[in-house]
Amino acid sequence: MVSPLVFSLFLFLLSLVHADAGSFAVKAKYNTGYAPNAARSYLRALQKWGGDVPKGLYQVAAIKDEGSQDAIPTKHDREYLSHITFGTPAQSLLMDLDTGSSDVWVFSSETSDDDNGNRSHYYPEQSMTALQIPNATWEISYGDGSAAGGNVWLDLVSIAGVEIQNATVESATYVSEELSDDPIMSGVFGLAYNYTPKMRPVMPSVLSRLSPLLNTSLFTVDLKWHADSEYEFGFLNSSKHIEPIHFVPLMDGAKYWELSFTKFNAANSKLWYLFNWPAIVDTGTTLLLLPTYIVERYYKQVTGAYESPMGWKYPCKSELPDFTIGFASNYTVTVPGKYINYLAFNDSKDSCLGGIQDNGGIEFSILGDIFLKAVFAVFDIRGGQVGFAKKELN
Ligand SMILES: *[C@@H]1O[C@H](CO)[C@@H](O)[C@H](O)[C@H]1NC(C)=O
Ligand SMILES: *[C@@H]1O[C@H](CO)[C@@H](O)[C@H](O)[C@H]1NC(C)=O
Ligand SMILES: *[C@@H]1O[C@H](CO)[C@@H](O)[C@H](O)[C@H]1NC(C)=O
Ligand SMILES: *[C@@H]1O[C@H](CO)[C@@H](O)[C@H](O)[C@H]1NC(C)=O
Ligand SMILES: *[C@@H]1O[C@H](CO)[C@@H](O)[C@H](O)[C@H]1NC(C)=O
Ligand SMILES: *[C@@H]1O[C@H](CO)[C@@H](O)[C@H](O)[C@H]1NC(C)=O
Ligand SMILES: *[C@@H]1O[C@H](CO)[C@@H](O)[C@H](O)[C@H]1NC(C)=O
Repeated sequence: MVSPLVFSLFLFLLSLVHADAGSFAVKAKYNTGYAPNAARSYLRALQKWGGDVPKGLYQVAAIKDEGSQDAIPTKHDREYLSHITFGTPAQSLLMDLDTGSSDVWVFSSETSDDDNGNRSHYYPEQSMTALQIPNATWEISYGDGSAAGGNVWLDLVSIAGVEIQNATVESATYVSEELSDDPIMSGVFGLAYNYTPKMRPVMPSVLSRLSPLLNTSLFTVDLKWHADSEYEFGFLNSSKHIEPIHFVPLMDGAKYWELSFTKFNAANSKLWYLFNWPAIVDTGTTLLLLPTYIVERYYKQVTGAYESPMGWKYPCKSELPDFTIGFASNYTVTVPGKYINYLAFNDSKDSCLGGIQDNGGIEFSILGDIFLKAVFAVFDIRGGQVGFAKKELN
């Protein structure tokens, strides 16, 4: 039996601040009030990327009340959502901006049985610019039978005032319960580098329609630990970083924002482990998912850490060391230990769940939000590279 997990969520509700054709920013606000299911977040991350799901994680993730108890004051940042408008007149939806997928899909008036949430839906029938693509469909499905899918529309999509005409909007006719447990999110806004669409026939990606509208073909991500966060499109904002940007080229044939890192260490030791580890930079995954080898070496530094069906846990009173990864040309990024505390359980062991977890044997690592909070990140669409720069950390 797993004790009820109890924690608080700090959800970032993003609002638009700046609309200048060709360059714009999407800003974050601080919010509380929704307790996610931690096991399910981990399960979804593994399923999204095809990792082996540890024995027992399905069962733990299926416990409905997991995570829905009263909050204790352990703050964490699970997800970042931004307002994007769809259709004419504009319908505002809170979307998950996801560099780890390439489709834009939404809960809509076509979605059946969506009684899980309190989210806004997309109503294509109320949009003068909506046009359904006959016989086009999309589907996302996972090994445990959970799935989402539906119809494909073209409509006007507007992000911070920049209008994307005939954007491909995938409207869900069904979303299984497991995929709809986040009551606020209205959909996913994919920003992956290359297109790996879930729709047939294939239509142009929204990013490919957005990219020519930008002054400079890039966007930047500044996720912050327990504070306002920001996505900026079409320009580099020099006040976002305090050291020059170091660019890392994408791997040949990269579909996602996939690069490699060349070393790591824990606790700022002098000991570096060297190798070439492929990794995907993914704003849509909360955790930092790494090969077993690295995860074990990290938690070896944490007093009392142990592996549970839900992932690596440790006594909340143990101090988490910093985690550093290095890229070619000797460039390093250090994730402060305090960022790696994902959440606290209110159980007899006073245990906490770590933000670094095993990647379930997938052939790459996932540099999710836990990592991204430690850097200013630049997604260079035309240049095919990702840049990292040191920023003021809080
Ligand atoms: C983007 O381009 C527009 C039109 O050329 C220009 O007015 C605007 O100042 C540019 N923005 C930036 C940040 O360069
Ligand atoms: C933690 O759980 C105990 C026992 O169930 C309960 O009495 C206590 O109020 C909980 N603490 C918080 C902060 O929720
Ligand atoms: C649902 O949303 C409405 C409107 O935003 C709000 O008034 C209401 O409190 C929300 N209900 C829940 C359960 O979050
Ligand atoms: C859509 O599918 C139906 C049934 O398979 C077919 O009769 C129809 O011609 C198709 N329409 C288009 C535009 O492809
Ligand atoms: C959008 O699609 C409609 C219908 O196919 C077409 O008439 C219109 O010209 C398109 N607009 C743009 C800007 O591509
Ligand atoms: C650049 O970033 C700073 C700090 O986050 C922000 O205050 C400013 O508005 C941004 N500039 C633009 C043009 O968005
Ligand atoms: C890498 O950087 C570290 C710290 O700046 C320095 O001590 C080390 O000599 C550098 N190594 C190489 C191979 O340049």
